[in-house]
This record gives sequence, structure tokens and C-alpha cells, in this order.
Amino acid sequence: MSDFSICVLDGYTLNPGDLSWDELKKLGSCTIYDRTKPQELVDRLAGFDIAITNKVVLDADKIYKLPDLKCLVVSATGYNVVDVESATLKNITVCNVPAYSTDSVAQLVFSHLLNIAQNVAYHDKTVKQGRWVKSADFSYWETPLIELAGLKLGIIGFGQIGRRVAEIGRSFGMQILLNTPRPIKNNHPDLKQVDLNTLLKESDVISLHCPLTDATKHLINKETLQFMKPSAILINTGRGPLIDENDLADALNKGRISAACLDVLYSEPPGKDNPLLTAKNSVITPHIAWASIAARKRLMDVVTENVKAFISGNAQNVVNPKL
Ligand code: NAI
Repeated sequence: MSDFSICVLDGYTLNPGDLSWDELKKLGSCTIYDRTKPQELVDRLAGFDIAITNKVVLDADKIYKLPDLKCLVVSATGYNVVDVESATLKNITVCNVPAYSTDSVAQLVFSHLLNIAQNVAYHDKTVKQGRWVKSADFSYWETPLIELAGLKLGIIGFGQIGRRVAEIGRSFGMQILLNTPRPIKNNHPDLKQVDLNTLLKESDVISLHCPLTDATKHLINKETLQFMKPSAILINTGRGPLIDENDLADALNKGRISAACLDVLYSEPPGKDNPLLTAKNSVITPHIAWASIAARKRLMDVVTENVKAFISGNAQNVVNPKL
């Protein structure tokens, strides 16, 4: 065991009891909290060398109050909860966990899309309520049934998850439009890199897979929603603030777009008055894309490896631009 002290600020969602912290505990003296409120953070982290956070925000103010902190491991892919610039100025190494949930997130994108396309659970409910038994015909459906083959799937952000979503979309026979800052190598006739406006105008389904940054905050807003087809289905498994929620709720309620499938919201958990909770055709899951047991196991392993690597002087998965 090293002399390093490790503090897990919000360990509950990663490990609600079905995984083990034992490997992490072997690396140093370890304190694990299920949850930490913003006002508890500075006291709890005082004197610790290494902090592990999933959603607890470490902004500039907090970082400057923690002179002993040397390493911040974000137990997630998106690391927007940490002010990386301030951490870098204070010589604090910031690490994330790339790619651990790629397959699970891509799977949830299609769970949402297939739910809109065929509404399996809803139709099962109507059958159990007796509708089929009483039906005059051998078949009925209560929502439009949509075939994915031939539809255009617009992917914004073509990294690990965006690429996996494109692969699955292609296997459904969808044509892929993608928007990402750098030109990509592309040998597929059914995959086209386009500018954002073209993607918004032409896509039947739009899925967000870019990180939350100053440039992508409110990427989906009143103006960009205007470009979309009235039949468009918007899917967000990225981060809530990629979308202006009032503008999206308004567009849904006015039928400007057809449906929104959301795994992430602006604040989580959302407030009772979040307009998307009551908007027409919004389908919401409680930020579960990352949370399959397989993905959480990988996450636990890489968090532990990140801490081990930092302690041994060879930090890995470092996101500071320059340290
Ligand atoms: P990644 O870093 O592999 O890919 C992100 C891509 O977005 C990169 O190719 C980047 O060039 C591109 N990008 C950056 N700025 C852009 C812009 N302005 N417009 C278009 N593209 C832009 O990350 P990965 O693993 O694909 O994850 C993507 C995001 O998904 C994460 O940042 C995270 O916020 C979110 N996520 C959500 C989860 C959930 O449980 N709902 C779980 C894991 C990740």
C-alpha cells in the first residue's frame, strides 16, 4: 500500500453494492462516500492526495481551496464537472475513463429509437388490457410503425460512441450523416460527413455524441430546431446542456419535431418543473446509458488503474491539455 490518500466523493452510482472497492483500497488509505454535497466537498477533501468524482463539481473556487490535491480521477468519460484549466494551473492531474461504456450507450440509443419506431412495451400493455382479444382484425397498431432502413441517421460527434452508433445504424440499413470538427477517413458509400446545418435539415433521426463544451452548450436551440424536419426524432445520450430545454419543449409541444429521446437532462435529478417532463412525445430515461453491470465493471477497473498509474508516476488517461 502507498502513502497516498484517496477519497471517493460519490461512489454510490458506480457501486451501489454489486461491485467491490477492494482493489482500490489496496492502493492507499481510502475513504468512500456514497454522495457529497457541494458545501461538504472542501472539508471532505482537505488533506487528500487523490479524489475520485463522478458528478460532484470541482470548479475553480473549490480547486483553489485544496492545496494538497494532486490527482482528480473522473469516474466517467465526460469530464465537464472539473475545471480542467484551473486544475492544470494548480498542477493537478485530471484523468477520465474513455470508452468503458461505448457499447452500452450505443445500445440505449437504439433502445430509444426502436421504442419510438415500434412501441413494443406500449403494444404489450394494450394486449394485456384486452384490446387484441376484442379486436375485429388479426392485427392492430396504435402508433405509427416506422422502418429504420433507408432513414437518415445524423450523428453529431464522431468519437467512440458516435462511431458505434453509426455501425449499428448501418446494420439497420440507415444512411449515416455525420458532423465532427475534423475530416474523417471514409470508405463507406452510406456514410457522409456534412456541415451541421445539412445534418439538421436532412436527418430523420439526430443523435448527439459530442462532449459538453462552451462550443456545444445549447447546440440544440430554437434556431437549430427550426432546421429539423417535422418528423425528426432527436436523441440525446450526451449531456443535458447540449440542449436548450425550454426551446426543445416548445418545439415538441408545437409539433416542430416529432419526438425527443433523452437520457440526460440539464440538472440531474431534474426539478419538478422541468418542461421536458410534460412535453409532448418526450421519452426520458434517468441517465442509465452508462450503467450496465458490464460497463460499470470496466469503469471500476479503469478508475483503479488510473489511480495506480498516477501513484507509480506514469499517469494514464490524462485530459489536462499540458501539465
Ligand atoms: P469521444 O471523445 O470519443 O468523442 C467525442 C467526439 O465529439 C470527438 O470525435 C470530438 O472531435 C467530437 N466533437 C467535439 N466537439 C464537437 C462539436 N462542436 N461538434 C461535433 N463534434 C464535436 O467521446 P465518446 O466516448 O464518444 O463520448 C461522447 C460523450 O458521450 C461524452 O463526452 C459524454 O458526455 C457522453 N457520455 C454519456 C454517457 C451516458 O451515460 N449517457 C456515458 C458515456 C459518455
